[in-house]
Amino acid sequence: MSDSPLAGKQIVVGVSGSIAAYKSADLIRRLRDEGVEVRVVMTQGATEFITPLTLQSLSGHPVAIELLDADQESAMGHIALARWADWILIAPASADTIARLVQGRADDLLMALCLASEAPIAVAPAMNNKMWSNPATQDNLNQLRQRGVQLIGPGSGDQACGEQGEGRLLEPLDIVAAMKQLAVPGLLQGRHVLITAGPTYEPIDPVRFIGNRSSGKMGFAMAQAAQQAGAEVTLIAGPVALSTPSGVRRVDVETAEQMREAVLRSVAGKAIFISCAAVSDFRPLSSESEKIKKATHDTLMLELAPTVDIVSEVATGDNRPDFVVGFAAETRHVADYARDKLKRKKLDMIAANEVGEGKGFAADDNALQVIWADGSQTLPLAPKPQLARDLMTLIIRQFDAKNSTENS
Ligand code: PMT
Repeated sequence: MSDSPLAGKQIVVGVSGSIAAYKSADLIRRLRDEGVEVRVVMTQGATEFITPLTLQSLSGHPVAIELLDADQESAMGHIALARWADWILIAPASADTIARLVQGRADDLLMALCLASEAPIAVAPAMNNKMWSNPATQDNLNQLRQRGVQLIGPGSGDQACGEQGEGRLLEPLDIVAAMKQLAVPGLLQGRHVLITAGPTYEPIDPVRFIGNRSSGKMGFAMAQAAQQAGAEVTLIAGPVALSTPSGVRRVDVETAEQMREAVLRSVAGKAIFISCAAVSDFRPLSSESEKIKKATHDTLMLELAPTVDIVSEVATGDNRPDFVVGFAAETRHVADYARDKLKRKKLDMIAANEVGEGKGFAADDNALQVIWADGSQTLPLAPKPQLARDLMTLIIRQFDAKNSTENS
């Protein structure tokens, strides 16, 4: 028996009409490698892209397609299948399938199954990048998120239509990794996790500030990954243009000092603190109350004062969470500088990323070197949501290891 967290899980894989349907063959094989019992349900559209026989051979069971099929209903009817499923995973999920899911349609077997089942649903979208970014699709996805449907991906890159952009089905192994995290909720059940994200803005005058290029994407992805692992999550966010991951409590701040105060107010009782924010290291010593007029200055000197290092203060403070994770943004000597920060700031773990020239800050993808006292692991370039799930897996592992050593 596999020791995968997915072993023994019963997953209905729904395959809808998309050129990416061919990847569902590999996905089914990978899920079975993890010890998953798979049943496949295809939409009519999916059968235009891949044959049911292929998926039947890979899953080891007849593929169900028709809602009103006497043979299939006598084998395992759609209600029985709805009850059997621990999870329903729709991969690929076309834009049309997502829209029908939002509407609660029951006009084919896959949709009827989703309506009839109490099993959680995960959706791995696959579509052209314009269809993906269309407000109709984004609205649909928001509604699904609010209903607790889990989104896996999509990735970005070359598309079958010849275009480039977001909307690619994630690779089967990445979908399996995401399912591992989703199917084992409760790893952080009952734990509270505090996360900072985004930049801070340090005012020079009422219209100008010192800031940085952080978009908040990495920290928001961490918040979502922690929430999906069952934690109660508080996210303290600098100024970003991102919507709050569902189920996450968000506190908005602007300056490093406001972030510090919000962190210190929230940190008591937290099991894990993850400091992903790009906190400004300096702030103008004083900020003008009126806009500085260009005409009155040939040159302008700004006197800067250091900000308090929030993650160090938390890691050495009375309310120290059990596990404190910092990030390190470096343009060179990434691992060496990160190791130094790990020790100097008294962290349990540091996730280092190379930044600059389009890397790290604001990008959709990122790569991390994760370092702790007696180990390290490289997480290769991946979309930030996926990278966050992998980092969260590492954090949970080291957090558990630390707790079991302390309690033994
Ligand atoms: O937001 P994105 O666009 O998705 O980009 C992600 C990211 C590049 C911002 C993120 O992955 C990242 O690296 N975040 C940390 C950025 C940073 O400030 O690194 P640093 O090496 O300067 O700081 C080291 C650590 O000290 C960080 O955990 C930081 O949160 C913390 N710090 C720094 C200064 C300060 N005054 N207080 C702090 O707590």
